[in-house]
Amino acid sequence: MRNIDLDTRVGELRRVINLHNYMYYVMDSPIISDSEFDLLFDDLLDMEKNHPELVSDDSPTQRVGGLPSDRFNKVEHPSPILSLSKVNHAVETKNWFDRMVKLDSRVATTKFVVEPKIDGLTVVLHYDKGMFVRGCTRGDGYIGEDITNNLRTIMSLPLRIPIKEFIETPDNLVVRGEVFIDNHAFDRLNENLSEKGEKVYINPRNAASGALRQLDPKVTASRPLSLYCYDLVVDGGSQITNQWDALIYLESLGFPISNSCVLCENIQSVIRICDEWQDDRQDLGYDIDGLVIKIDDFNLMSNLGIVGKDPRGAVAYKFPADEVTTEVVDISVNVGRTGILTPYAILRPVSVGGVVVKQATLHNLDFVQEKDIRIGDSVIIKRAGDVIPYVVASLPSLRTGIERVFKPPSRCPSCNNNIVTYDDVVGLYCTNSVCPDQVVRYLEHFVSRPTLDIDGFGKGIARLLVESGLIEDVADIFSLDRKDLLQLDGFADKKVDRLLLAIEESKKRTINRLIEALGIRGVGAVASVGLSRKFGSLDKLSKARVEDLLHLDGIGPNIANAIVHWFNQPNNQLILKKLKLAGFWPVLDNEDDIHKGVLYGKIFVITGKVQDWSRNDLKSYITSHGGLVTGKVTSKTNYLLVGENPGSKLEQARKLGVIEIDIEALQELAS
Ligand code: IVH
Repeated sequence: MRNIDLDTRVGELRRVINLHNYMYYVMDSPIISDSEFDLLFDDLLDMEKNHPELVSDDSPTQRVGGLPSDRFNKVEHPSPILSLSKVNHAVETKNWFDRMVKLDSRVATTKFVVEPKIDGLTVVLHYDKGMFVRGCTRGDGYIGEDITNNLRTIMSLPLRIPIKEFIETPDNLVVRGEVFIDNHAFDRLNENLSEKGEKVYINPRNAASGALRQLDPKVTASRPLSLYCYDLVVDGGSQITNQWDALIYLESLGFPISNSCVLCENIQSVIRICDEWQDDRQDLGYDIDGLVIKIDDFNLMSNLGIVGKDPRGAVAYKFPADEVTTEVVDISVNVGRTGILTPYAILRPVSVGGVVVKQATLHNLDFVQEKDIRIGDSVIIKRAGDVIPYVVASLPSLRTGIERVFKPPSRCPSCNNNIVTYDDVVGLYCTNSVCPDQVVRYLEHFVSRPTLDIDGFGKGIARLLVESGLIEDVADIFSLDRKDLLQLDGFADKKVDRLLLAIEESKKRTINRLIEALGIRGVGAVASVGLSRKFGSLDKLSKARVEDLLHLDGIGPNIANAIVHWFNQPNNQLILKKLKLAGFWPVLDNEDDIHKGVLYGKIFVITGKVQDWSRNDLKSYITSHGGLVTGKVTSKTNYLLVGENPGSKLEQARKLGVIEIDIEALQELAS
């Protein structure tokens, strides 16, 4: 006999958990704490354990339920997935519009929806009476592969719709969307893979594709996949007649929808939006290769018909290429702060996206070998937004025979010391702790904005101080002598006073920022806060054992080992001794002493160019002080940081009454 009461309780618990998942993963605004959520989740796990007959496919406990399979089944799509013809700029967009008006005069007064064209993988999601029953890849557009169990692991994908009550459950619904990995998650994924000594992915699209094609859903679950839906293929009886309403409907059911979609009244406004997006796309946080412009009215759209595989009523607006071909003139090697040797390509200068690029990182030696990049090769390089230009591929078919294979150095190019490899990480390392290039890089990190934030201590000064012998390790900055500094080229009284004052001032930094400054492999801002909370002082942290460290957020065995190793090194112990002697030895008295950041809870948008600051520097400055940077000005934005040649965001901010600040005001806020 079924226990109706228990049935209802389990059903209600599931609904509440699904709703909280939705608030967290789709809306980005959780309404309960993680621990409250865990209590609910554990309750449900308990009930399902005691009553296995109540476990159902839409239970949030069943996201990673599927067993590994040996292949994916083929599935026919309910309607073929078409492609899109392309337009490259305003003139072509207008021509497309004019062609349609000729075919159907109603186009002249129609509205359009402009959506980001996410560079991910198309998926087709089937819901039967509200239950997610099947999810497929695009395949050849007619037949895809059944990857239901992998898709179920994507936390923003609703297992049951509607998420909220009071909305009717659609009968049979098919939705299309794009699965992707955002840039931040991609970087973290690659960092983790490389820490484990595994191969890294070249771009977020490949990483997402790799994750979706895993035969074991557990592996997919460990990958940070995101989803945006944009197409209502079978409407579940909702009788929606236009794209904008379809997006609103999908959103109301609980599907994740990009909040960058725009309804445009006419083609002029479409063209303006496309133009604005050229600048704004780098702030999105995920890769888009253009925009999709769609006629809003479904009826008009279908009347316009299809040419080949492309519907007439929608186009892909492509952004100018951020990839170009050039030549590798030479390959050289940089020494990083941890001693890692990073090869980079010296390129025949070439303009990409309006910037002349002369160098591109080659990540590590494995990358050079895997991509078979040779000196003299033609290569494709990519520069997306603020990302450091990198080599996408070499073009062996263009070789003439004079290309040379790069020979990795056998000694450190900076200090001529031996170089070594480690088991747990990729790459070659110089182990000489007084290697000049290493010390310079370490010093740059030590004084940088997120760590000690020493005003006026730029990269030039770091190199000068190391090369002149005034600094052997980072802690020496606290014993710099005024007279010695005055001997240096370009250092007059005022400059020296200012620098010494800024160094003295930096001794007020909190313990977590000092821990981050130490530059221990894998210990960034988040781990530093965790370590400060747990240990409270460097005296205690320096005595920590691997097992004391393992339970902290974001610290796995590799990082735990790296921490213990760091504190065991005599040269690092010397650094600590000097810091203590200098009186820079912060301890944690209470939670307030942790630098959560004075900008905590504040949302920033950046527009225009700020002199001497890259976009990435600005972002990390704001986030390291606890703030959040988003791409679009909305009513939630607290501040617009305005640089030279601001874009349309300024206009939008003024409309919404958002406070405008310049870089000085930002630094003031953060101090
Ligand atoms: S609509 C008729 N909307 O772009 C085709 N596609 O060539 C309808 N894509 O592979 C596509 N974001 O996966 C549409 N907001 C969006 C999209 C989008 C990305 C991809 C899609 C397809 C390609 C279209």
